[in-house]
Amino acid sequence: MKQDFPLFTHNPDLVYLDYANTAPKPQTVIQAVCDYYTHYSGNVHRANHDIGSRADHAYETARHRIATYFGVQQNEVVFQKNTTEALNLVAQSFVGKLIEPGDKILLTGLEHHANLVSWQLLAARTGAELVFSQVDEDGCFDEQHWLKLLISGVRFAAFTAVSNVTGERFPIEQMLAAARGLGVPTLIDGAQLTPHERVDFDKLGADFLVFSGHKIYGPTGIGVLIGRYELLDQMTPWIGGGDMIDTVHLSGSTFQEPPLRFEAGTPPIASVIGLGAAIDYLEQHLTPEQHELESTMMQGVLDALNSIEGIHFLGDPDRDARLASFVIEGVHSADLGAYLNEKNVAVRVGKMCAHPLLERCGVDSAVRASIGLCTDQSDIDQLATAITKAVQRLR
Ligand code: ALA
Repeated sequence: MKQDFPLFTHNPDLVYLDYANTAPKPQTVIQAVCDYYTHYSGNVHRANHDIGSRADHAYETARHRIATYFGVQQNEVVFQKNTTEALNLVAQSFVGKLIEPGDKILLTGLEHHANLVSWQLLAARTGAELVFSQVDEDGCFDEQHWLKLLISGVRFAAFTAVSNVTGERFPIEQMLAAARGLGVPTLIDGAQLTPHERVDFDKLGADFLVFSGHKIYGPTGIGVLIGRYELLDQMTPWIGGGDMIDTVHLSGSTFQEPPLRFEAGTPPIASVIGLGAAIDYLEQHLTPEQHELESTMMQGVLDALNSIEGIHFLGDPDRDARLASFVIEGVHSADLGAYLNEKNVAVRVGKMCAHPLLERCGVDSAVRASIGLCTDQSDIDQLATAITKAVQRLR
């Protein structure tokens, strides 16, 4: 598969194990972006010439592909900048409308900052209370505690499907069923789920799903909010400007229907078109065989890491995850990351945009290896060699 990705052609020695941070882009995605700028770089929804019509067509075709892939209607796909922006939109425009001071919003203790700080801002504005399911002593999600909090009465529940630190996949199907049974609206943060699993939004039964284009092999600068139309339709705009309006007078304005109501100003047209191409790529390659292959590759990563004396994983590494975060006794994570980088092994080092979870796990900083579509045995062999040498050198 690496042959589809110019990143690997241009960096033949690269061992890329930072997919959870951002994924490489296949040539088809790069080409789609390039074609737009080369052949039809008009604005969308506001140019009455052929170039603009071609841009319109490509932009709305991308929306249609995304809608089909997730099993929703085209008007349920809202383009935002990234997962973070999509989350903030739901927080401000949906939850912000229904929340009363003292109402509870249920989160988990494993969220990355996007699915935490956005709610903190809302809580500060509305007087809502944030409640968090606890992280157990192994760094894992505590489903029983989450259910207990849910039953105790919450106005909204937002949770990640897969932790970006531990790789744990939450039992989202059961969680969503429980929330639905109690009439609690829900949001799934799919940033780490969508690169590895195809999601059927209706079957899943969430009210909102957010994810980033760049983690699913698409361009940066584009994320998606998928929401049930009747809920999107209740939401007022969060950002005002061109394209999201119906009528404008000095005395006031009226707004378009969703999704355009939430896409003010000139959108990232090239990135949307590139995301459409990324969805085509995923459709072809995110197969059951690939799922098996990723499980095998991840087992290889874990075997390589488990051979290191003094390694400690954050969370339970024996789950069928696609990433592992760890610390090694006597070796500083930053030094390890720098050494691996010298050997062309790219991993993530630091707090993973999840400070509270690292604090709960009792570490300042960790190293994370994450895999994706192109990970192969040679990546694992090189990781194993580099990390063994690093520990000998640095300890
Ligand atoms: N992009 C962040 C990560 O690497 C959230 O997990």
